[in-house]
Amino acid sequence: MQQNVTFSRFELTDEDFNYLCALIGDQAGIRLTSAKRELVYARLAKRLRALGLRSFRQYCDLLRGGDEEEKVHCVNAITTNVTFFFREAHHFEYLEQTVLPELMEEKIRAGSRRLRVWSAGCSSGEEAYSLGIVLREQPALQNWDVRVLATDVDTHILERARRGIYDLKQIEKVSPARRSRWFRVGIGRNEGLVSVLPELKERIYFRQVNLKEPWPMHGPFDVIFCRNVVIYFDREMQRKLFDRFAGILSSNGHLFIGHSESLFGLSNRFRLVGPTIYRKTG
Ligand SMILES: C[S@@+](CC[C@H](N)C(=O)[O-])C[C@H]1O[C@@H](n2cnc3c(N)ncnc32)[C@H](O)[C@@H]1O
Repeated sequence: MQQNVTFSRFELTDEDFNYLCALIGDQAGIRLTSAKRELVYARLAKRLRALGLRSFRQYCDLLRGGDEEEKVHCVNAITTNVTFFFREAHHFEYLEQTVLPELMEEKIRAGSRRLRVWSAGCSSGEEAYSLGIVLREQPALQNWDVRVLATDVDTHILERARRGIYDLKQIEKVSPARRSRWFRVGIGRNEGLVSVLPELKERIYFRQVNLKEPWPMHGPFDVIFCRNVVIYFDREMQRKLFDRFAGILSSNGHLFIGHSESLFGLSNRFRLVGPTIYRKTG
């Protein structure tokens, strides 16, 4: 039975809702169910207002007409960008204490001083800057060629990530030593804000990459952080993605995923080496 839901201003029919779910699934691999109806409404209603439209039907017609720019806005509006500095702190500790020492030893033996880390689904940049801090704090890596690639599908959030300006309260849980070493506190009209130091930004490259599409880079990466991203994808997309991660990781490379995510039943190309920390086999 057709169910029409009328909220304060815009009508969202089943047909339009299903069309939007299919479009977003197709564009970004994000799986939306009827449980997300209110979320879709609330986030896209802002787009409708910004465009001066009167109904979701008009908005869907715009998208059906092939407006590629609006498809990007639509995906941007739907993505969930929650993140924070040193989220799941044990990942950064494991990177610092276990992965990096071993990796450096292996690389030196192979005559290489190159290290590549990928923050896939980096949102507003906190994860990438946290990785940057850990890498910059390793004295032995000072003269190495170290880079962090930080990617997201959402173009708006990437602009914020590049700016590297945050509310002071967002770094409250960062250790005092790191706060004073890597952030500059705003004064005057910037009071209440902090900015990441330019020297931390130097080796962090923010790029738009849709994980569902072909990737412009070839790797290999030594470490991939893809955390709290695949929860939005269906299992088939997760399976393909983990397989592609295995392909672009160096042999024995590490993959860090989110606390509620797992590779169980999805990939046999990794083994578990810590809580939600995997290592490529071979
Ligand atoms: C909840 S945030 C996770 C941020 C960070 N990794 C963390 O764990 O704190 C999820 C991010 O995945 C991004 N994302 C969703 N679908 C994507 C896709 N198809 N390709 C790339 N990024 C995507 C969203 O834009 C969002 O910024």
